[in-house]
Amino acid sequence: MSEEVKMEFDAKNMQFRRLGSSGLRVPVFSLGGWLTLGATVFGDPVKDIIKTAFENGINMFDTAEAYAKGQSEVEMGRVIRELGLRRSDLVITTKLFWGVRPGPNASGLSRKHIIEGTKESLQRLQLDYVDVIFAHRPDATVPMEETVRAFNFVIDQGWAFYWATSEWSAQEIEEAHHVATKLGLSAPIAEQCEHNLFHRERPESEYELLYRKYGYGTTVFSALAQGLLTGKYNDGIPPGSRLDVKYQEWLQRVADGLSTEEGKVKINKIKALTTFAEEELGCKVAHLALAWVARNPNTSTVILGASKPEQVIDNLKALEVIPKLTPEVLKKIDDIVGTKPAGVPNYGRPELDPYGRPY
Ligand SMILES: NC(=O)c1ccc[n+]([C@@H]2O[C@H](COP(=O)([O-])OP(=O)(O)OC[C@H]3O[C@@H](n4cnc5c(N)ncnc54)[C@H](OP(=O)(O)O)[C@@H]3O)[C@@H](O)[C@H]2O)c1
Repeated sequence: MSEEVKMEFDAKNMQFRRLGSSGLRVPVFSLGGWLTLGATVFGDPVKDIIKTAFENGINMFDTAEAYAKGQSEVEMGRVIRELGLRRSDLVITTKLFWGVRPGPNASGLSRKHIIEGTKESLQRLQLDYVDVIFAHRPDATVPMEETVRAFNFVIDQGWAFYWATSEWSAQEIEEAHHVATKLGLSAPIAEQCEHNLFHRERPESEYELLYRKYGYGTTVFSALAQGLLTGKYNDGIPPGSRLDVKYQEWLQRVADGLSTEEGKVKINKIKALTTFAEEELGCKVAHLALAWVARNPNTSTVILGASKPEQVIDNLKALEVIPKLTPEVLKKIDDIVGTKPAGVPNYGRPELDPYGRPY
């Protein structure tokens, strides 16, 4: 990629964290392209969103081969060039699994698809390398050793610096670590998982031992639960919103779910959270929801989704809310949502931090 730099990166008040136990530093809020960049948003508006993010301290951008059948990568790559961003200022992540076309070898985590898929993603992105390449889902039809070796080959070629997982079970991540250790290869460094006030079991309970054993990181998605946690669906589905557009069958099911008993309970909790956020924290419920995920010690970055630049700016106000989430405030939030998972049992043994000190 040519280095005609037109914009210097200014981190502003963004905070940076290590991605898992790796040395890579990622902004606590990053930006992703699923259902937006290249899917519902094209051309200059994509540039406006990415430029706004970059100008406000976001230097990490997440995409996938499958997002809009490759168009998300195409749009992101085009905008990075047009804006003249310095490659070394950026952390770019993409994901492989579903491919962009049908075919027996055009998807999954075989050596063939991992290598061919990586090359195609880089072409669409117009980049020489991505910083992190994710296995977008586990592939039970391929031996783990083949997948681990293939991601290591991609790293050895310089096409990616690290590899990671998305929506893998703790057992699958454990197996990848076991195989990598046995073979003296690089293990995955982080998991891209859903984590929000209504989806907590896996990131807060199932993965707990991975955080402790491997310092596994998380790049969290859907922190706003598709936008529900902005409160915009509290009184119905607003025109033009993600759940109004309904271009995917499963999004229709999410929309329909809002009028079920379970959906109504959820909306009532969001209304209670809205009041709590406004009255006790002086912020919007979206800021509370984003800050709540960012506040989790195992979160490396929260990947924002945005269909407009204003949403990026609004969501970054969550940075100011993170320090307000004291243990007492977190307890009140847990009481409102009632979704806290039990976690791994200690059988009376006190919890110690990684240095052996009591928490
Ligand atoms: N690995 C995976 O399997 C996986 C899965 C999902 C997502 N991801 C990654 O995570 C990223 C974020 O996921 P997500 O899009 O589901 O996140 P999300 O934060 O739950 O939803 C983002 C959507 O909420 C709405 N929104 C955001 N901020 C708003 C605001 N301030 N006011 C009103 N509405 C607002 C926008 O939709 P509208 O304006 O259209 O209503 C926006 O597109 C994706 O882009 C992708 O990179 C990964």
